[in-house]
Amino acid sequence: MCGIVGYIGLKQAYPILINGLKRLEYRGYDSAGIALINGETNVYKKSGKVQELEEFAKKENIGGTVGMGHTRWATHGEPNDTNAHPHVSEKGYFTLIHNGIIENYSQLKKKLISRGYSFQSETDTEVLANLIEYIYLKGKVTPEMAVRLALSKVVGAFGLVISCKDTPDQLIAARRGSPLVIGIGNEEYFIASDATPIVEHTKSVIYLNNDNVAILKRNELTLKTIDNEPASLTIKQLDLDIGEIEKNGYDHFMLKEIFEQPKSIFDTFRGRIAADLSEITLGGLLDVMDKIEKAKRIVIIGCGTSWHAGLVGEYLLEEYARIPVEVEYGSEFRYRNPLIYEDDIVIAISQSGETADTLAAINLAKEHKALVLGICNVVGSSIPRETHAGVYTHAGPEIGVASTKAFTAQVTVLAMMAFLLGKRKGTITDEEYRKLIKELNDIPGKIEKILEHNEEYKKIAELYKDASNALYLGRGYFFPVALEGALKLKEISYIHAEGYPAAEMKHGPIALIDENMPVFVIATKDRSYEKIVSNIQEVKARNGIVIAIVTEGDTIIKKMADHVLEVPQAEAALAALLAVIPLQLLSYHIAVMRGCNVDQPRNLAKSVTVE
Ligand code: G6P
Repeated sequence: MCGIVGYIGLKQAYPILINGLKRLEYRGYDSAGIALINGETNVYKKSGKVQELEEFAKKENIGGTVGMGHTRWATHGEPNDTNAHPHVSEKGYFTLIHNGIIENYSQLKKKLISRGYSFQSETDTEVLANLIEYIYLKGKVTPEMAVRLALSKVVGAFGLVISCKDTPDQLIAARRGSPLVIGIGNEEYFIASDATPIVEHTKSVIYLNNDNVAILKRNELTLKTIDNEPASLTIKQLDLDIGEIEKNGYDHFMLKEIFEQPKSIFDTFRGRIAADLSEITLGGLLDVMDKIEKAKRIVIIGCGTSWHAGLVGEYLLEEYARIPVEVEYGSEFRYRNPLIYEDDIVIAISQSGETADTLAAINLAKEHKALVLGICNVVGSSIPRETHAGVYTHAGPEIGVASTKAFTAQVTVLAMMAFLLGKRKGTITDEEYRKLIKELNDIPGKIEKILEHNEEYKKIAELYKDASNALYLGRGYFFPVALEGALKLKEISYIHAEGYPAAEMKHGPIALIDENMPVFVIATKDRSYEKIVSNIQEVKARNGIVIAIVTEGDTIIKKMADHVLEVPQAEAALAALLAVIPLQLLSYHIAVMRGCNVDQPRNLAKSVTVE
């Protein structure tokens, strides 16, 4: 959601903040703003992209060694200059930026109005700014105490950076739900909603815990809780390179991330697959493996693309480990009074490790005493900290809002889990186990070969870039791939697309098929090959356009389909990792050709930290 960056030190804050906002723009991009504290507090804010803010700020006095910046993803109030952050309290004492939602903002607002406050914006954040000011002036307390008292009245989620005009050499940061990281420099501190704007300045960081309040001066950091208890402070070293968060010559992060997949998958299994391909070791699960092995049920939780990876996981775990699996959206699971047993294993999948609904589902599962595991990409994020054990995907930072390499890395981890459990439970033979490890080890090389076809995909994209609808069909492991293909297309190109299990087509979507409907069919050789061939014939009989993803050398589908995209042969369980690549690239090219902003699609956010 929104991106937050703050600075207090000896350097000029503006370049650090504006550069930080550019790095954070993938989190929210409907408006942006900066406050610089230099004797007085100057606020510059604009709807639109960070670049527009930069153009605007160029003409202004932008000095100051303390400041904060924000890039917004609107929750309360449309994206315009007034609703953009920072927000300043009515009498000008407090300036703040906020990520999250203040759920009881309307009650608080009513009370403040009855006490004479008026409001400029429609945001929940301005309510908080005025509440802090009201407590500060009425209670004659320190700014820090006013912040803590105000936050104790707030229901909801927040990541905040706050300044008070009476203490211009101090910033206050606070977190509940929405992540915040503090970077420690030399007589300087950085604050951000994730490490990307910090890494170029320092690698020493502190991740704030829920209900932490940090008081930052140039050479002093105090960490406490909202209840004024001292909070423990753990300094960690970032394992992140600046090159990893740059485009490195690619036009878009999404394209870079698609092309990174041979490496990101390799990095995900590197050190976990023995060099002689005889064994899988998942260090993060060693202590809980016995319990997982005995599980009567696994519940996988995720949102968006991570939920799709969970569906592939269901098929893998049921096939190889023979454990029943349910896959749930975090948002449904948390609110539908689900049955959760003490001997359940819950696996939460998340690229960012911060998705609010997934986090809430984890907490619910923990309350019911289930063992909760995480499969996450961002090291040190909330989900790995909240879960009992887990496996990092090691895909590297994913900046493009549409998830690509995180999906294939998540599936890689789920495959390793399924194979390892199968081996331990004896539901697969040693020979099968070694064959599957070898197959997984071969996947990065096979993806390299698929990526060589990029120009061919561009030509197909050109043909279908003006479609209004598209259908994606697959069976078995390829049903979640069909869902993921449809999601990629709709989120970045705004073409309406649906993913379906191919056989279900007859129960509805077939009515939509005509000569204008591109139908993407994943039809590689596996046990349902013949069935999918029939489905292709059904589409062709209704004049639909078939773009089929087939196994290299396929001759049967070539005769029926309008286009075939070949992928190397692979074990069915792992072929999802291959079939998704052409779909990612087709969506990418179609979106570029339609003039869409691929890395920052409208209305979407990379990390959804509100429910
Ligand atoms: C957002 C992103 C998606 C992502 C989903 C879940 O909707 O735009 O790309 O799949 O959140 O995010 P997570 O970080 O939990 O995987």
